[in-house]
Amino acid sequence: MHKDIEKVLVTETQLQERVAELGRQITADYAGKPLLLVGVLKGAAVFMADLMRAIDLDVETDYLVVSSYGLNTKAGELTFGKDLSVDIAGRDVLIVEDMIDTGSTMHRLLEVLAERQPRSLAVASLLSKPSRREKEVKAKYIGFEVPNEFVVGYGLDFAEKYRNLPYVGVLHHECYS
Ligand code: IMP
Ligand code: MG
Repeated sequence: MHKDIEKVLVTETQLQERVAELGRQITADYAGKPLLLVGVLKGAAVFMADLMRAIDLDVETDYLVVSSYGLNTKAGELTFGKDLSVDIAGRDVLIVEDMIDTGSTMHRLLEVLAERQPRSLAVASLLSKPSRREKEVKAKYIGFEVPNEFVVGYGLDFAEKYRNLPYVGVLHHECYS
């Protein structure tokens, strides 16, 4: 697994420190409010597990699975592989995502969840590739901005592999083919 990685972009220590920092910020920002963390599977699973333990508040957790189709079309349809199991109306909701790339998925997900009338709706994404953005997404918390390269690890996959790498890295080009 490690031999397939060309370079490490974010080390295990950097991840730990940044997640702790985000946890402190979220704890301060949502003080006194019961927070609902919504993890976007599967990519956000690792970030979610660490982030929730860095938040010193009463939190509830839920998960959803989405896949997007026609990302290059205006429709940008979103299919729920698994929808939320709780009603988010009137709740403070923080979506926990692994990566905002073109922004299509999160843009549409925010629209869909906003229709359910949460009290507040915000995004925490571990990673962001700003140079790739096609749809504007306001993410309240971003762990790291990364360059326009395909990254794996800490939850992010290539063909379902590498999610269990403890750092975020770039794959050797041979591994794509
Ligand atoms: P977007 O709709 O283009 O913003 O992309 C959304 C999803 O594509 C992210 O939530 C990731 O799951 C996946 N993705 C985008 N870039 C990468 C990457 O570099 N590595 C792994 N997955 C990625
Ligand atoms: Mg994702």
